[in-house]
Amino acid sequence: MKIIGTGSAIPKKTVTNDMLSEFLDTSDEWITERTGIKTRHIITTERFEDLATEAASRAIDASGLCPDDIDYIICSNVSNLYVTPHLAAIVQNGLGIKGPNCPTMDVNVACVGFVYGLDLCDALLSTGRARNILLVAAEECTRFCDWTDRNCSVLFGDAAAAVVVTKGDSLVASHLTSVPMPDVIVYKNPMEPTPFETREGIDTHKALEMKGREVFRNAVTSATRDISQIVESAGLSLDDIDHFLLHQANLRINEAIREKLNQPESKFPTNVQMLGNTSSASIPLLLDSGVREGRIRRGDTLLLSAFGAGFVTGVIILKY
Ligand code: COA
Repeated sequence: MKIIGTGSAIPKKTVTNDMLSEFLDTSDEWITERTGIKTRHIITTERFEDLATEAASRAIDASGLCPDDIDYIICSNVSNLYVTPHLAAIVQNGLGIKGPNCPTMDVNVACVGFVYGLDLCDALLSTGRARNILLVAAEECTRFCDWTDRNCSVLFGDAAAAVVVTKGDSLVASHLTSVPMPDVIVYKNPMEPTPFETREGIDTHKALEMKGREVFRNAVTSATRDISQIVESAGLSLDDIDHFLLHQANLRINEAIREKLNQPESKFPTNVQMLGNTSSASIPLLLDSGVREGRIRRGDTLLLSAFGAGFVTGVIILKY
């Protein structure tokens, strides 16, 4: 596979830490010190599906293709109004791609969705199932949060980012993992009991629940392991990597990973300070801004690494 276009879209409303302190028992100092986050963007008047379509449209424009050249659409998404139809079908409609020869599907692998999606793109392209794939990562995690709970609501932001991927030999190596830890990050859909429900204590809908410290520990350990292993198995050294695009959950997590790898700060672009944790959109957002601002150039070696609910991780090395 080869990435030929990138795009992104963020909601216009910026929410500062001070704005959160007006209704939560928190402070700019606490949030900045523990997470690095200063602001996040939150959907207000926009429609989430329009944001996803806008990011997709920008990626298609940048690729030089037109929407009808797209013959597969994959969306990474955990949070959005629609359980069905899936987001990829909604984006297809928004782009005016009539089909029928353009399958659409969503992947739900939390924050790792973009990395899993790219790996899937490579498989589809190399087996001839598709020629030009649109991969969109769009998230509205702020809808998951209990806005009276300071533990989770300060961490997240909304955003969408996309790439167009075609046949090529960019992929150097890829490694995906999953270790069952179903209770470290949990969000359950609202569900009505049926008249036949017999279980005691039916699960009721709750806002996002997270064991923050456990996630923190697992994130640092797994990302450091993934990165070291993939670099070695690809016959490279850490110094061969030009840009480490890490999932943006917490600046301290990424700083701990960077220190363990002993690599310079300049190779680790960030957006969590301005956008908060945008789940699977965070890495393609880094990619899009890096490409558009000229920091990521053709031929650069990129390493993408993400972790998330599951507990799932994914790491990819590619020549941009
Ligand atoms: N403002 C002020 N205080 C807060 C707060 C907030 N927004 N959120 C939590 N606290 C308080 C807690 O109530 C708790 O107080 P207590 O000790 O009196 O009970 C204390 O701060 C928690 O401290 P601690 O557990 O040491 O915080 P931390 O340094 O681990 O930071 C996280 C908490 C959530 C920021 C951090 O664990 C984290 O980022 N984990 C990873 C989360 C993540 O990445 N999730 C997404 C995965 S994709």
